[in-house]
Amino acid sequence: MKLSIVYHSESGNTEKAAEIIVNAIEQMDGIEVKAMNINNIDENFINESEAVIFGSPTYCGTCSWQMKKFLDTSGTLKLDGKLGGVVITENFIGGGADFAEITLMGCLLVRGMMVYSGGVKQVPTHFGAVLIKDGDEYQINKTKIFAQKFAKRALELFN
Ligand SMILES: Cc1cc2nc3c(=O)[nH]c(=O)nc-3n(C[C@H](O)[C@H](O)[C@H](O)COP(=O)(O)O)c2cc1C
Repeated sequence: MKLSIVYHSESGNTEKAAEIIVNAIEQMDGIEVKAMNINNIDENFINESEAVIFGSPTYCGTCSWQMKKFLDTSGTLKLDGKLGGVVITENFIGGGADFAEITLMGCLLVRGMMVYSGGVKQVPTHFGAVLIKDGDEYQINKTKIFAQKFAKRALELFN
């Protein structure tokens, strides 16, 4: 099973979050995982993926305009029927990451994806993973657990 992480990152924090997710999922059997910047995507790999996690910085209390534009203009990507999730970085607690996640999730639902946040058992990731800048130890650990819960759910659904 293939799993993609598609992210926007200008100063590297969201890219680091994507790397944390890749490293966590690589430890699991049965999944080929690949992270890609929105400026350099592997469209075939995404189309062949059963699950996609989207990553974005928070800009003005929501997802970045670049990530929104990517989703608005990527109509040829096959997302329908796949499992979708989100990871967001922000500078400040309460800086808008939750709203960024909800905004992205809305786009994923419109594209026909099934959305999974990981929920609040084991660790709370209410709408998905959130890191302040590139995250402290607690946030990084939560992101790893989110990644593995998300991948496990994808395996249950598609393997
Ligand atoms: C234009 C702009 C707007 C931003 N707005 C917010 C914001 O509303 N809330 C917040 O917590 N951080 C905000 N930030 C900080 C970024 O979300 C944060 O540094 C993020 O981790 C950057 O991700 P990147 O390193 O992957 O580019 C903003 C940054 C920029 C450049």
